[in-house]
Amino acid sequence: MRFPAYRHNLSKIICYLLFLIGISGVSSQIWDRMPRVCGQIAARSDNIWCVTNEKELWRWVWGLHDWIWVKADNLRVHNVAVAEDDSVWAVAVNGDVWKYSTNKTWAIIPGANLTMISAITDTEAIGVDAADVIWHFTNDTWQNFTGEAIWVSGGIDGDLWAVNRQSQVLHWDEDGWTEQPTPDGTEIQFVDVYDGGRVVATDKNWDLYLWINPEERVLYTQVRGPSWYRLENPHPNCKQATLTKTNIICVSDTGYINKS
Ligand SMILES: *[C@@H]1O[C@H](CO)[C@@H](O)[C@H](O)[C@H]1NC(C)=O
Ligand SMILES: *[C@@H]1O[C@H](CO)[C@@H](O)[C@H](O)[C@H]1NC(C)=O
Ligand SMILES: *[C@@H]1O[C@H](CO)[C@@H](O)[C@H](O)[C@H]1NC(C)=O
Ligand SMILES: *[C@@H]1O[C@H](CO)[C@@H](O)[C@H](O)[C@H]1NC(C)=O
Repeated sequence: MRFPAYRHNLSKIICYLLFLIGISGVSSQIWDRMPRVCGQIAARSDNIWCVTNEKELWRWVWGLHDWIWVKADNLRVHNVAVAEDDSVWAVAVNGDVWKYSTNKTWAIIPGANLTMISAITDTEAIGVDAADVIWHFTNDTWQNFTGEAIWVSGGIDGDLWAVNRQSQVLHWDEDGWTEQPTPDGTEIQFVDVYDGGRVVATDKNWDLYLWINPEERVLYTQVRGPSWYRLENPHPNCKQATLTKTNIICVSDTGYINKS
């Protein structure tokens, strides 16, 4: 179908090298705490958004080093997603999908009743509904997509990952969804893909796992081994995580955000 399988390109290689430096930082536990309690987090570029337990939408303002409440149309949301182009997609508590376009206006994108969403670009997103149907917004319409999931994530290059009700992690390739087995005993809840090279997942024990594309891993580290690495967690742990080019951002069990 239309999502490309992973392909190498120079920009990805550069990102990957930057990220390896970032990962060596993770092992030495360089996590910053960002104030305020959040229930869910989304970021791709430096644009970071969170949903609080009160269903409010907040965005991080670097200049203030704090969050501000985005009160657009008194929006109450379940879930928020950000694309690399800075468009923001959100699922309201009634299932409506809202989009904050790159032209800085909010609008409902009609025709969907979702539980979560992942933003790919200003014109493309993917989400799931309460019946585990996957919905893909493209060409200005919602279309159902192969498979069943409770959580999906689309990367900046359109790479797609999902978690199903059996806690399996799935990756989309041209032939369909294939399971990417996680370490024994993990029950994955959330997955987040930055691009075809890197993915983070968190399980029901709020442990954090990183997946690096095996081709890249062997090319740059000469290390063969399991696809998933368990990362040393930020204190105290990581309920749900999102990836940017250089950071992993986690919601911890106190609700505070930790950024590597
Ligand atoms: C912003 O973009 C959306 C489509 O993404 C469009 O519906 C809306 O009219 C645009 N608003 C303005 C003010 O250009
Ligand atoms: C949206 O889905 C939820 C969960 O299935 C359902 O309770 C609600 O009635 C739906 N809303 C609409 C407008 O269909
Ligand atoms: C979107 O439209 C383009 C151009 O008309 C077409 O090639 C493509 O297959 C469409 N995508 C989907 C998912 O329908
Ligand atoms: C998905 O779309 C196809 C074709 O439009 C339709 O036959 C099918 O019933 C849909 N499935 C669901 C779960 O909505």
